[in-house]
Amino acid sequence: MLRVAVLISGRGSNLEALLKAALPATFVGVISNRPGVGGLALAAAQGVPTRVIDHKAFASREAFDDALADALAALNPDLIVQAGFMRILGSRFVQRFAGRMINIHPSLLPAFPGLDTHGQALRAGVKLHGCSVHLVTEALDAGPIIAQAVVPVLAGDDESALAARVLIQEHRLLPAVVRGVAEGSVKLLPGSVVISPTLAVEPAWTTSALVSPPLR
Ligand code: GRF
Repeated sequence: MLRVAVLISGRGSNLEALLKAALPATFVGVISNRPGVGGLALAAAQGVPTRVIDHKAFASREAFDDALADALAALNPDLIVQAGFMRILGSRFVQRFAGRMINIHPSLLPAFPGLDTHGQALRAGVKLHGCSVHLVTEALDAGPIIAQAVVPVLAGDDESALAARVLIQEHRLLPAVVRGVAEGSVKLLPGSVVISPTLAVEPAWTTSALVSPPLR
């Protein structure tokens, strides 16, 4: 059974989606860089071991990265999922877990890397937005893309409306990718991914939704 560790920083809605998806996986642990966040309670309620590695407790980014890496390694995970994890990890950390770590990012990469993706999308005036699951590499939000989901940007959208629409797709996409890794239709390698055509991420849209929303 695929051993999955999850890194969080907050409410953990993507973690919750993973835990509820009845995946062929064992969740060996959830680690948060912030104490007292909702995701920790979600994990504990499902009997998943939790830990806090508080980045504020370390004198340097490297010291935090090393403590997090040691805590992760102790779980002996096959797959590490960054689910709403808001820390940028250094190259030594990424290299240690090369080919084993994925991230869900709330934009259609390579568009809008980094933070405030929905604000970036609205300011750019894009008509299609969405989320991406990608392999984590040393370059921020730039690893090989595994899967994406698209949502329309609608007239009158503000950041919270757009974020909520994207989040629905995140909660579909991330479990589907983890299922693909567990079932072998997604193979992760250091710096690359191999995706078999059987990866089932059933479309949550008709082709009509892929076209920019009708001009009002
Ligand atoms: C999500 O949009 C995720 O893509 C981003 O942070 C948001 C909150 O994630 N990284 P979660 O609800 O904590 O899973």
